[in-house]
Amino acid sequence: MTSRYKDVYREWQTDPLAFWAHAAVAIDWFKPWDKVFDAEQGPYGRWYAGAQCNTCHNAVDRHVEQGRADQPALIYDSAVTGTQRRITYAELLDEVNALAAVLIDKGVGKGDRVIIYMAMVPEAIVAMLACARIGAVHSVVFGGFAAHELATRIDDAKPVMIIATSCGLEPGRVVAYKPMLDKAIEQAAHKVGTCLILVRPQQPHELVADRDFDYADAVAAARGRKVPCAVVEATDPLYILYTSGTTGQPKGVVRDNGGHLVALAWSMGAIYDTKPGEVFWAASDIGWAVGHSYIAYAPLFIGATSIIYEGKPVGTPDAGAFWRVISEHKVKVLFTAPTAFRAIKKEDPKGEFIARYDLSSLKYLFLAGERADTDTIKWAEEKLGVPVIDHWWQTESGWPMAANPAGLGMLPVKYGSPTVPMPGYDIQVLDDAGHPVKRGDLGNIVVKLPLPPSCLPTLWNADKRFCEAYTSEFPGYYKTADAGIVDEEGYVYIMSRTDDIINVAGHRLSTGAMEEVLSSHPDVAECAVIGIADHLKGQVPCGFIVLKSGVTRAESDIEQDCVVLIRERIGPIAAFKLAITAKRLPKTRSGKILRGTMQKIADQEPWNMPATIDDPAILDEIIVVLEARGIGRK
Ligand code: COA
Ligand code: AMP
Repeated sequence: MTSRYKDVYREWQTDPLAFWAHAAVAIDWFKPWDKVFDAEQGPYGRWYAGAQCNTCHNAVDRHVEQGRADQPALIYDSAVTGTQRRITYAELLDEVNALAAVLIDKGVGKGDRVIIYMAMVPEAIVAMLACARIGAVHSVVFGGFAAHELATRIDDAKPVMIIATSCGLEPGRVVAYKPMLDKAIEQAAHKVGTCLILVRPQQPHELVADRDFDYADAVAAARGRKVPCAVVEATDPLYILYTSGTTGQPKGVVRDNGGHLVALAWSMGAIYDTKPGEVFWAASDIGWAVGHSYIAYAPLFIGATSIIYEGKPVGTPDAGAFWRVISEHKVKVLFTAPTAFRAIKKEDPKGEFIARYDLSSLKYLFLAGERADTDTIKWAEEKLGVPVIDHWWQTESGWPMAANPAGLGMLPVKYGSPTVPMPGYDIQVLDDAGHPVKRGDLGNIVVKLPLPPSCLPTLWNADKRFCEAYTSEFPGYYKTADAGIVDEEGYVYIMSRTDDIINVAGHRLSTGAMEEVLSSHPDVAECAVIGIADHLKGQVPCGFIVLKSGVTRAESDIEQDCVVLIRERIGPIAAFKLAITAKRLPKTRSGKILRGTMQKIADQEPWNMPATIDDPAILDEIIVVLEARGIGRK
């Protein structure tokens, strides 16, 4: 099949408003828009201004009304508990109605925020949809984050309610969420009045009187009640998703209702080649953008079936876990992070588990979240015999910015490139002064404003921070903070971040936030955290600490304290296992720590002595301490 990509992209370029008006036909609107795009609203404009809709209606109700009542909407497959549950669209509607009734009874109203701190259970998606139904704004916090991170989000979002599970289940370990929730509520300045706790049998928990209510009891009592879908503005917020910024204060990415509905529904057909009734599996977590967009929302927007998987690619129980899920549930499209495939490849290099399952339903593998290395892509192509599509996006966009659009007909694959810009994205490469670079040259990847529907219109209560972070440096453009290349044929290559974000097992983390934690240790005078290459997780953090003079405790004890401190303050997901004591940190004459040079040394990449370095001898010291840990020059 020849690709229709060029025609479709040109169609968008020629008349973007007509393109997005046409795409919006797939959505049920209570009231049509006054303007497809209103440049006067928000920091750079708003999509579908004046339109009214409801996200839950589009995800659930309309499919029940249009003949999908008995089709599974969600398939919950928990490899860690060995249970499965199929939830039809009709059942999902009942569950969402009941929970929506509970929310209203507990005083949650339109525009109120609700934090969801839950494991990968279907109730998490029910909670998201129930909020959407009544026009409340949800903010899901990933379970791998510790109490302090949760407290930061509570103080920023100021929720009226938190919905939580009593625990999450990691292989061989029950992670008690409830104590972390209690601690976070205690730490936060904003006081949360009501919590709804889904108590799991693996971790029964005491409920705090007058604050905590049992999720199951409350929903059981409300079963059978019907709550009409609230009429919300297309531009009203659907959710806030916090993501790492360059400081310890995460950025509250806002997603609106209308633009999100349109872009995600469009992407399911054009990019993922998925039709109503087919089974789509994003093996991620609802705490991340991938989980929001492609576990909870997009498959439901089009009436497909979404898998919610509680488990890992390996170890639950083995490297055949993904193939079991695909064969049992007839998955057409699998979407995950390259790190999952690196983990499988490491355990089962010959792909012997693959041969044990019938994978005939699988048509595509999509990878995103970090750079997909060519070895992993080729291994997956060879072992699975389906197209393996690397695509690039960010929490901020909520859907792919560059991809090989399977539904429009695939373009030739170039290894190392997530292929081409999607309609809506005019991707350009600028030098640091804001001038376009020559095709094929490395520079700052930017997107010409306005961003397309579904992209963040702003940060939660922080228009100024939005502008500072994304639009001030290159006026007229959105700064992606990725560096890369666009080649002669328009293929995009993403090389690295231009800020302090690192990607650990596809999870986005801020080294700046880790530095803030390390600096709080009483014996640490200064510190620097860098991301170093890791064969499994892509990158892992490595912290350098300089001790205050006069400290007499053993360096190894303080390093261990630092590891524990980051686990406690940020969470296990930071995968911070390496703290190294150094006498001094290499800096420029103006005092900037040379993190980039340290990272190159650790990764054995070519590096030059920076012209602005204050004292070259310090870099030699760093080389020595790294070598002592078996890192860097051998
Ligand atoms: N709640 C509590 N703790 C969690 C958690 C959760 N929801 N998710 C992860 N953790 C913990 C893990 O148990 C681990 O703790 P440990 O240090 O005690 O071992 C730590 O956080 C790091 O987790 P993770 O990054 O998942 O590493 P892992 O070694 O357990 O597994 C992979 C490695 C590659 C198997 C895993 O990262 C994976 O499946 N990745 C898939 C890709 C993905 O989901 N990407 C998301 C964006 S698309
Ligand atoms: P997140 O917001 O967690 O989705 O992380 C977004 C960042 O992950 C991007 O800015 C990139 O740095 C990186 N990323 C995502 N997808 C890819 C990809 N396909 N190739 C390279 N980097 C990617």
